[in-house]
Formats: sequence, C-alpha cells, structure tokens
Amino acid sequence: MSAADDPWAERFVPLWSTYIFKRSLPDAAHNNAAIVELVLAMDSQKDDMTVDYKGVDFLQRPEPSIAWLREEVNTTFRNYLQTCNITYPVRGDIQAWPNVNRRGDYHGPHNHGWSYLSGTYYVQVPLPGTAAGDMSPAAITFSDPRQGAAHHSIAPDPDAAARFTVHPQPGTLLLWPSPLIHYVHPNHSDDVRISVSFNIVLQWSNDFAG
Ligand SMILES: [Fe+2]
Repeated sequence: MSAADDPWAERFVPLWSTYIFKRSLPDAAHNNAAIVELVLAMDSQKDDMTVDYKGVDFLQRPEPSIAWLREEVNTTFRNYLQTCNITYPVRGDIQAWPNVNRRGDYHGPHNHGWSYLSGTYYVQVPLPGTAAGDMSPAAITFSDPRQGAAHHSIAPDPDAAARFTVHPQPGTLLLWPSPLIHYVHPNHSDDVRISVSFNIVLQWSNDFAG
C-alpha cells in the first residue's frame, strides 16, 4: 500500500522534526585534492585561520574546486528548503571558512547563532582506528534539542536517542538547523582533519512584507 492510499497517514501530524541533511558529493576526490592544497597553504600563512570565521567568505574564492563546492552547497540549500515545504524564494548569504584540525583539536558543544542553517563539508578525515582513544576522530555528534523528549520514546523510534553521531567520509556534506547543539570529537590521530564549515544567514526582501 502506498502512503497516498494509507488512510492512517492523514491522521498523523509530523511535528517538531529536525532535518539533518547528509550527502556524499560526486566528483569529490579530485576537487578535494585541490582544496587540501589550497587550505594548507592558507593555514601556513595564518596563525588563527580555523577560529577566525567571522566575515570570511571562503566559498567566493575563484578556484574551480571552490566554485564546485559553492554550487553543491547552493543546490543542497535549495533542496533542504523544498524538503521543509518552503516553496517561496529565499535568499541566503553563505559565510564559509576552512578548518584544519590536528592532534588534540576538538570543538565542545555549541551552536551557531544568528544563522538559519549551518553545515560542514569534509575534505580530508583521519581513518577510524588510526587514533588512540576515540576511534572516530572525524565524528560529529548532534543533541536532541527537545529537552526530555528521549525519556518517553522507545527504540527503534529515532527520537529515543538523545544524540545522533555522524562519521563523515571525504566528500560528505552535512547541513543542519543552526540552533542545534553539536560537538566535534577530538582528533586523537596524527592525521590532519580538513573541512569547510559555513553558516547560511537569511536575507530579508521587501517582497516578503504584505
Ligand atoms: Fe559548529
């Protein structure tokens, strides 16, 4: 029976959903090689590149690999809105910055204020099992934003888990609502983790009024 024919389907209201988008980008391998070279060259020029993210517009750079990533992020943004049933035109300003994480680097629980959506593209990640301690040195974990919701859910309902962990591969693109609390696992390996993070800030249009 299809969902359209299911008389029970219309009796349920899916509320308070959290959409975490996860996609493996095609053509990632050769573009990643170019992005690694670019980001490491930038990192060698700047002491605080990874934490200096405000006002940075990394995805506006002219290199073909960055133009490719910019288009993939834009396409993903459009499809994310469609999935959320937002059918009117929306303009978003994408503010992106590169990250280079070495042994010991991590990012504790936080969210991204003043933004609508946030995301990360993984360029180069340590292999699982190469690290002592945390065996997933590239992992990112999201927390259920609805306090206590997990306490009255039962498996296999995904709401029964208070946390959701993603183990990205090179080429993985993630997109999530910016208020969502998340943390980046420590890199316990000697392999460098390289990613590009971004915030999408919505732009007002006077067409919206009235
Ligand atoms: Fe973050």
